[in-house]
Amino acid sequence: MLLAMPPLTYVAVDPAALRHNLAQARTLLEPATQLMAVVKANAYGHGLVLAASVFAESGADWLGVSTLEEGAALRAAGLHLPILVFLPCPPEQAADLIAHRLSATVVGEESLVALARAAEIAQRPAHYQFYLDAGLGRPGVDDLPRLMEIASGFPLLVLDGLYMHLDAAAAPRLGPLETLKPGAEFRLFAATAHEITDRLLGTRVPLHAAASALALTRPEARLDLVRLGTLLYGQYPASVPPAARSLDLRPARSLRSTVAWRSNSSACSSANSAAVIQNARRCQEPSGTRSKSGFSIQRSIHPRQKSSSTMGTSRTARAMRIARASGY
Ligand SMILES: Cc1ncc(COP(=O)(O)O)c(C=O)c1O
Repeated sequence: MLLAMPPLTYVAVDPAALRHNLAQARTLLEPATQLMAVVKANAYGHGLVLAASVFAESGADWLGVSTLEEGAALRAAGLHLPILVFLPCPPEQAADLIAHRLSATVVGEESLVALARAAEIAQRPAHYQFYLDAGLGRPGVDDLPRLMEIASGFPLLVLDGLYMHLDAAAAPRLGPLETLKPGAEFRLFAATAHEITDRLLGTRVPLHAAASALALTRPEARLDLVRLGTLLYGQYPASVPPAARSLDLRPARSLRSTVAWRSNSSACSSANSAAVIQNARRCQEPSGTRSKSGFSIQRSIHPRQKSSSTMGTSRTARAMRIARASGY
C-alpha cells in the first residue's frame, strides 16, 4: 500500500556532511594517494546510491562495495568511478563482474581463470585485484608469483591492485619487524610487491592496506590508496586514540521521528507505551480502514490535530482501549 504521508520515523542523511568528511580525510593524504570511499552495506546505512554519488562528486577515486549486486546497482545509477568488490569473486559471477566493469577480488586460481575465460567470451577486459590476508583470517592469495604467472597468459586480465585489510587492532599482529621499527612491515610489503610486479608485469600496480583506523594512525600504511568507510560517515573507529582524532568530522546521519502522542499523565504503563505505538501506526493509515494490527480505525487521529474528544484523560482512556483491543 502506498502511504499518503512520509514515514513517521526515518533516517535523515546530510550530503553536506559526507562531502565535508571526505574533504577532511583528504587533508591526511599526499596528493598522489588515492581515496576509495567504502559504500558497502548500504553505505553503512546512509543509502548506497546517495552516498556513492556524493563521494563521486566530491572527488573519490574509487568506490568499495562488498558484493556484485551493490556494484551493479551503482552502475545502474550511472556511476562511472572504478569500483572494487571486496568479497572474493565466485567463478560463477565472473561474467557479471566484467559486464558491470567491476574490479573483482581474486584469492585463487579458479576465480582468476574463470575471469579470464569470461573476458575472452565477452571480448572485454576483466579488472581484478589480488587480496593478501594479513592475519584477519579472511581467504587470501597464498602464492602471488604463481598466480601472476598464470595471469600473464591471459591478455584480457587487468590487475588493478594488490591489497590487504588491517585495522589498528590488528597492527600488533603485523609481525616482529613492526615492533622494532614502526612502518617496517608496510615498507617490506610494498618492496616485495613492487619487486614481484616489476619482474612479472613490467609495471607497478597500486598497493593498499589501510582503512580508517590505520589511515589516521599510521601514515606509512597509506601506501598508494586508502579505503575509508567509518571516517567518511563522521565517526572515529573505537580503536583510534584521542590524540589521533585530529579531523573535524560531522555525523552524517540522524534518526528522526514524529511525536505521535504525548501524555499529560506522568505515570507510564506498558499499556500506554503500546498505545503510542498503535497511534503511530494509525497515523499512516487512512481513516475508517482496518489496520494490519486488527482494530478498526474510526477516525484518524493525527497528533497535531486538536480534537476535544481526544484530549487529556479521555484521550488516555481511548488509547488504552485501543491498546487492549489490540491485545497489548
Ligand atoms: C576491505 C575493506 N576495506 C575497507 C573497509 C572500511 O573500513 P573502515 O570503515 O574501518 O574505514 C572495509 C570495511 O569493513 C573493508 O571490508
